[in-house]
Amino acid sequence: MDGTPGEISAEQQEREAALVERVLASYADTPDPRTKQLVEALTRHLHAFLRETRLTEEEWKRAIDFLTAVGHITDDRRQEFILLSDVLGASMQTITINNEAYANATEATVFGPFFVQGSPDIGPGGDVAHGAPGEPCWVEGTVTDTDGKPVAGARLEVWEADSAGRYDVQYGDERVAGRGHLHTDDQGRYCFWAVTPTPYPIPDDGPVGELLRATGRSPMRASHLHLMVVAEGYRTLVTHVFPRGDAHLDSDSVFGVRDSLVVDVHQQIPTTPTPDGREIAGPWARIAFDLVLAPER
Ligand code: BEZ
Ligand code: FE
Repeated sequence: MDGTPGEISAEQQEREAALVERVLASYADTPDPRTKQLVEALTRHLHAFLRETRLTEEEWKRAIDFLTAVGHITDDRRQEFILLSDVLGASMQTITINNEAYANATEATVFGPFFVQGSPDIGPGGDVAHGAPGEPCWVEGTVTDTDGKPVAGARLEVWEADSAGRYDVQYGDERVAGRGHLHTDDQGRYCFWAVTPTPYPIPDDGPVGELLRATGRSPMRASHLHLMVVAEGYRTLVTHVFPRGDAHLDSDSVFGVRDSLVVDVHQQIPTTPTPDGREIAGPWARIAFDLVLAPER
């Protein structure tokens, strides 16, 4: 026999199944029922993977080395385990499970590693860019509940990469750019200046990058602007807006794209008056995006 699953003898299959049962039995006295459920399911799925793929001892060692490298590159500035979860689609699946579609509420997507607590308060019409290079982009919309009632005083957190494809925290200096927060007005309206989102690669100089290259996958994220909306009585919304027409919408490296989050970016020629009278020498753009919040569960 050559070891393909179809040719495994009944005796061998029994030996493997008996081991799975022994491991499962070892958890019989787990006091917390949820912990018991998780370790039992993990055991069943992990052993199913090992048995289905007929994992070799060399491959097992390679997997251990890979996970060790993921641990070694992780520190308080870089979280390679989350990146791994992202490229495996595990982050997006967890978000999907925990943010069930609710009426017409805006869909959630990945949080990513570049949010920073304590962003500057830019106020209505303020500029998130704060010197970040990129084409100026006016973003406006409303925050409402699923019946269309305005949500006043909602806190909107915004963060994005600059046109060089980097977040401020990736420069290794103290700059704060491409991030900020503001609140909706009495009618639930918001507006701010940002830079037009452009595509960028996720960090691919570590083991996750190696995995992407070994599987012929691109590290590129579809262009996006991150938004988080926090309002009392509503489910916190973590989402993105994705410009329509972006080349990476169908191959986003972390599977974050949802059709409902893809928006038109309206390019404006130089000399077009801006909504707030800001003087801009070159071209600029505008995006309209209404956010709908689900009630808190
Ligand atoms: C981001 O959009 O910022 C991001 C998300 C997942 C992995 C890396 C970056
Ligand atoms: Fe991002």
